[in-house]
Amino acid sequence: MTVLVTGGAGYIGSHMTYALLDRGEPVVVLDNLSTGRRALVGEGAGFVEGDAGDQPLVRRVLRDHGIDAVIHFAGSIVVPESVEQPLRYYANNVGTSRALVEACIEEGVKAFIFSSTATVYSVDATQPLAEDEPKEPISPYARSKLMTEWMLEDAARAYDFRPMVLRYFNVAGADTQGRTGQSTPKATHLIKRACQVALGRVPHLDIFGTDYSTPDGTGIRDYIHVTDLVAAHLLALDGLRAGAAPATYNVGYGRGLSVREVVRGMEAVIGRELPVKESARRPGDPPVLISDPARIKVALGWQPRHAELSEIISSALEWERRLND
Ligand code: UD1
Repeated sequence: MTVLVTGGAGYIGSHMTYALLDRGEPVVVLDNLSTGRRALVGEGAGFVEGDAGDQPLVRRVLRDHGIDAVIHFAGSIVVPESVEQPLRYYANNVGTSRALVEACIEEGVKAFIFSSTATVYSVDATQPLAEDEPKEPISPYARSKLMTEWMLEDAARAYDFRPMVLRYFNVAGADTQGRTGQSTPKATHLIKRACQVALGRVPHLDIFGTDYSTPDGTGIRDYIHVTDLVAAHLLALDGLRAGAAPATYNVGYGRGLSVREVVRGMEAVIGRELPVKESARRPGDPPVLISDPARIKVALGWQPRHAELSEIISSALEWERRLND
């Protein structure tokens, strides 16, 4: 029983790979290294350089390694980029997933975990967001994720195939043992950028939008430690192996933090003021995204263990420091 992790050389995928290795599971990573880094793949994991949409390659990997479950992280994730290059997003996220799912079905791999996003929900949906709230994605990125969710749902109805969809809220932080972390130099995430500013590698942090209808005027997100996110995948994997039916779960804490609260959190960690600049809203940014995590807690027994903002920020900062040392 070996797990295939697509995108396993990337930020979340590399944490997943370590978590599987830590509990003694054989793992194979498939990554085309377009944004991932070979060095982030944990020692002991098999590595295949290639595309998750390359069916002959995937079928060979599934067969040769006796894969029983696939965790599919590979894809493109930057919202503004998706607005400029929608067809690339549909190819990388929808086209690749379609080819991968077909390969799994043809090779008899039933357990499949898919990385989806909190941005599939309508901006008018009720917060905190339960899974059944209306979906109305506003970017090509989010639409590509929802299209893939629909495809998985249809495939689960038609074939002997059991996908679980995890809708991530804002993933941040780094491995608690310091083995991997967010390594994309041009990353746009708030906490990553705040770390770069804290270390003097970027002169200031832009606060994108101070006129939202939120208590302090800045955007609110549900920031979740990558280690807790990965733990949700392990539970989903165990559930699927034990025969669980296809399901969709939010993965967030149910706690909203504004950009200014994150800035204050960083200031508390570093013990000084963070240089910030109030800037215009970023196109495509919803004002508030907060998870209702009740379903995953009840169904899979998931519990947050690293929710302190100071822990999320400190681990991210520690990794950022190592990156250029
Ligand atoms: C992130 C993920 C997206 C995921 C979503 C789920 C990436 C690149 N984005 O998007 O894939 O679907 O969470 O909720 O992984 N901000 C600033 N200054 C900055 C950067 C950000 O003020 O320098 C603000 C943004 O306007 C937003 C908040 O911080 O209000 C979070 O932004 P960001 O970390 O980029 O994540 P999302 O856009 O929410």
